[in-house]
Amino acid sequence: MEVLLNQATYHFPKGFYWGTATASHQVEGNNTNNNWWAWENEPGRIKQGHKSGLACDWWGGRWREDFDRAAECGQNAHRLSIEWSRIQPTPDRWDQDALEFYRRMLRGLRDRGMTPMVTLHHFSDPLWLTERGGWEGDKIVEYFSAFVEKAVDALKEYVNLWCTINEPFAYAAFGYILGSFPPGKQNLQIGLRVAMNQVRAHAAAYRVIHRLQPEAKVGIAIHYRGFQPAKAWSPLDRLATGVQSTFINDLIPYALEDGIFRIPLRKKRIPEARGTQDYIGLNYYSVDNVAFDLRESGTLFGKRFYAPDADLSDTGFIANVPEGFYKALEWANRFKLPIIVTENGIEDTDDHIRPRYIAQHIHQMWRAVNFNWPIRGYFHWSLVDNFEWERGWTQRFGLWELNVETQIRRKRPSADLYAAVCHENGISSEMVAKYAPEVLGKIFP
Ligand code: FCB
Repeated sequence: MEVLLNQATYHFPKGFYWGTATASHQVEGNNTNNNWWAWENEPGRIKQGHKSGLACDWWGGRWREDFDRAAECGQNAHRLSIEWSRIQPTPDRWDQDALEFYRRMLRGLRDRGMTPMVTLHHFSDPLWLTERGGWEGDKIVEYFSAFVEKAVDALKEYVNLWCTINEPFAYAAFGYILGSFPPGKQNLQIGLRVAMNQVRAHAAAYRVIHRLQPEAKVGIAIHYRGFQPAKAWSPLDRLATGVQSTFINDLIPYALEDGIFRIPLRKKRIPEARGTQDYIGLNYYSVDNVAFDLRESGTLFGKRFYAPDADLSDTGFIANVPEGFYKALEWANRFKLPIIVTENGIEDTDDHIRPRYIAQHIHQMWRAVNFNWPIRGYFHWSLVDNFEWERGWTQRFGLWELNVETQIRRKRPSADLYAAVCHENGISSEMVAKYAPEVLGKIFP
């Protein structure tokens, strides 16, 4: 007699979006007219002197084969970004060919049965904008609105899910406070001004998009980072943890909720930003321990590090903390808006950790879904290995591995696991037993 094993499946609501996320500069290649290309060509800016080069060659047309891969693997949605520097190469010129390119790409998604989500700004800026003061300058709201108007008008036939700005606080912090992104400044005041301008520009863009497309759903993608005091009993560590969270997680989304930008000892009113999110876009990767440290002025006296026993990625960049994802969703649910997980993933060349990272994070999301928290979809970062900003090609986030020289893709086992999840609209004990047996008991106790 055959012994029947217990089997179980955690299902998701009907119509759940399952996809991956990408960004123009990271995948297109030959983005020569933006600030990142210029940055890559300055010595010492990118790890090992790497350059984005051809990236995943989407501009050369390889988006087609990658969308085929995604569709064959059951993905029903994709989040991509469009490149401002291509659409508006100089302040007085709109490039119709670039707009047509993106129309083709978005139609390509629709033809494959995938719902597109479009990010209008994902870290990269046109060179002309940088020369005119970028996001520090007063005219940014005007510039961004004009770009959004052109882009949305051209693409609205295919898209109604828009993300205005990816990780605004990360952009402000890395570029203007910590200096690892262009323009490499290290000035808290300027960083805060940039963040405030992003809130203003988002608010203006929100209105532009709704004017052109009343049924649009518009939001931002917030990088939510979990934080916990290194020593739970230490009041200073707890204080430092609160400061991290207030800045990194709360500053922007609360300003978009009530129009108040809360910086220490000061509140700035940005009334036009009030109520300008139709959903909460959540990028979640990991959780940091925080210890109060007077030497860490750049991070407002919070020294951040992973727990000593953390389950770490290849280069130690990400710790696998699935419970932190549940808490991130709990935080997102405070806003009483639909939630879209706009990014979640791990760098892992050999695909040792990624299968369990995926399985455990999807499990945590399923727990949240069961409280009826309105989670509408999940975009894994990323489809194919791509150019990882100042870390160059040293970190591999793809479900598919990319050989940058030959452009040959190779499927990682995680792609098959994720395909099984997408096809099933759920995760089963069989899937976990096959791809991440080491966590089977944790997910299906
Ligand atoms: C996020 C970025 C994305 C990618 C992932 C790994 O913060 O939005 O472009 O770099 O991290």
